[in-house]
Amino acid sequence: MSAATRPVIRIENLVKRFGGFTALNGVSLDVYPGEVHALLGDNGAGKSTLIKTLAGVFPPTEGTISVDEKAVNFRSPRDASDAGIGTVYQDLALNGLASVTRNFFMGRELFVGPPIFGLMRMAEMDRITREEMLKLGIDISDPSQAVGTMSGGQRQTLAIARAIHFGAKVLILDEPTSALGQKQQMEVLKTIKRVRDLGHIAIILITHNEVHAELIADRFTFLSLGEVIGAGTNADLDSADMRRLMAGGAELAHLSEELATTS
Ligand SMILES: Nc1ncnc2c1ncn2[C@@H]1O[C@H](COP(=O)(O)OP(=O)(O)O)[C@@H](O)[C@H]1O
Ligand SMILES: [Mg+2]
Repeated sequence: MSAATRPVIRIENLVKRFGGFTALNGVSLDVYPGEVHALLGDNGAGKSTLIKTLAGVFPPTEGTISVDEKAVNFRSPRDASDAGIGTVYQDLALNGLASVTRNFFMGRELFVGPPIFGLMRMAEMDRITREEMLKLGIDISDPSQAVGTMSGGQRQTLAIARAIHFGAKVLILDEPTSALGQKQQMEVLKTIKRVRDLGHIAIILITHNEVHAELIADRFTFLSLGEVIGAGTNADLDSADMRRLMAGGAELAHLSEELATTS
């Protein structure tokens, strides 16, 4: 557990409605530097809505988001990223045909002279890419190789290393292990652990896999139907608590669906 006592992100009583539908109904949580905060819940719990609100995609209907104890009002994803909130979505936004380095710098290339001449500082960009990946435990000996040749785990690491290099102090990972096989999942968990051990980055890990969360998270928030049904630190919750909260959330979602169809 990190020694940080001030949250980098504080979410208070967040409400998000889509028309008459309430996707988030008064959600509060704190995120600390050097910690992994797992956001858990069944399909439809509101996990994606919560992180999209945090990432500036949706404005909140009610409630407050603070970054470094200052209330913020993101009008776009750009605002959130300027405030140091980096989101790695499931599709990773990588171009499989382009090189590792080109993907790393995508749109933020380093040029020799004015960018309109298009002459890039390739050697320097290759070096930075390799170094940033190495910090997360992946040695890309040839950063000019196409991203398409990398494993799923390495691609996740590339997207994460890129977000950190370009200023993310809060890293939001949306289901980073869900599309991967067992071995690749472990690689991604190791990468997340390395980011955590850097000490200054806060990680929000969205998952519906409570085993993965239990392996690497310091703090947990369980969502169901847009509400927090349980929260705590690693010390507060044991495996049985986590299974119970996950099962409780799934059951609630199921019952509510049944109610809706029989009305
Ligand atoms: N843009 C939207 N418009 C209307 N309803 C939405 C929208 N986005 C999400 N929802 C609804 O909000 C609820 C929570 O969805 P979501 O945040 O995607 O859950 P999760 O990521 O936990 O599976 C779902 O019932 C979903 O249908
Ligand atoms: Mg989702």
